[in-house]
Amino acid sequence: MKTINVVSGPQNASAVILGCMRMPALSVEKAAEMIRAAAEEGVNFFDHATCYGDGDAETRFGDAFPLTGLKREDVYIQSKCGLHFDRKEFDWSKKDILESAEASLRRLKTDYLDVLLLHRPDLLFDPEEVAEAFDELEKSGKVKYFGVSNVNPGQLELLKKYVKQPLVFNQLQFSLDQTQLIDNGLYVNNLTTDRSTNRDNGLLDYCRLHDITVQAWSPLQFGMFKGCFVDHPDFPELNRVLGELGEQYGVPKTAVAIAWILRHPAKMQAIAGTMNPAHLKDICAASKVEMSHNEWWRLYLASGKFLP
Ligand SMILES: NC(=O)c1ccc[n+]([C@@H]2O[C@H](COP(=O)([O-])OP(=O)(O)OC[C@H]3O[C@@H](n4cnc5c(N)ncnc54)[C@H](OP(=O)(O)O)[C@@H]3O)[C@@H](O)[C@H]2O)c1
Repeated sequence: MKTINVVSGPQNASAVILGCMRMPALSVEKAAEMIRAAAEEGVNFFDHATCYGDGDAETRFGDAFPLTGLKREDVYIQSKCGLHFDRKEFDWSKKDILESAEASLRRLKTDYLDVLLLHRPDLLFDPEEVAEAFDELEKSGKVKYFGVSNVNPGQLELLKKYVKQPLVFNQLQFSLDQTQLIDNGLYVNNLTTDRSTNRDNGLLDYCRLHDITVQAWSPLQFGMFKGCFVDHPDFPELNRVLGELGEQYGVPKTAVAIAWILRHPAKMQAIAGTMNPAHLKDICAASKVEMSHNEWWRLYLASGKFLP
């Protein structure tokens, strides 16, 4: 497994993260099997959020982890706070951040989170309140590192004005189908394509300039949770090239799709959401691929983009 040393953050973090959003579908025993299978592949990083299964993902993980034989200190457990679909609002108030973190710790049955991310922007967020919450969580030892998810450069600047801790992660949507994070860098002001639209004010460059590691969510999905593009009939050219490179490297297509993300010099992590140990093993074979510059471009173009 490739690993990443995050500047001012976790060291030797696996490049593939197991995303636990789909874990509520598993029994405690199956969840333990999944966590163990991940560890056997070298995955030492697990992503959660208070909203996954309304807390059930964290509960399942917390119940399953003691059955795995793994040591708490050998893994990174990350959670995210602020999404309240039940209340139809996102909330980054001090009270909510603190209550969410406490609830995550209870459900995960752990004394500390390695990482806490603010999940999606609360349009009413007050950076001074966020700073107070982070200070309390850091002082009490309940959270080691902090970050954000789906947050743009302006919002990061505003947070950084008050938050003392380094913001070390930004979790963002990125896959061979969902390439909006990088497209504008190629098409810039080209009037012939929507891909030239600057939707995020140069977010990837901002993250790289500020040592913020990008965690790519839904790395195998097309659209917004529409399904896995690998072996999907709507993506014949992409699957042809994934298959050709897979054969060349002796790995499955999913490994090539993940290797495409890991090839980016921003040194991203990819969050795999499968709850199938065999699928995860396939995905983790991405570590065996040393993708060339030209192969990366071939895949980008095979996913439906063009050279301007
Ligand atoms: N920050 C955010 O806003 C945000 C948003 C969404 C997700 N996330 C995080 O990202 C993680 C991953 O999201 P995701 O689950 O959408 O990502 P994903 O890994 O891109 O997609 C998972 C889906 O791909 C399928 N899949 C994997 N390998 C396959 C194969 N070889 N053949 C067929 N299907 C295959 C899985 O099915 P099987 O289970 O059958 O393998 C599963 O349905 C989540 O768990 C969560 O931690 C974060």
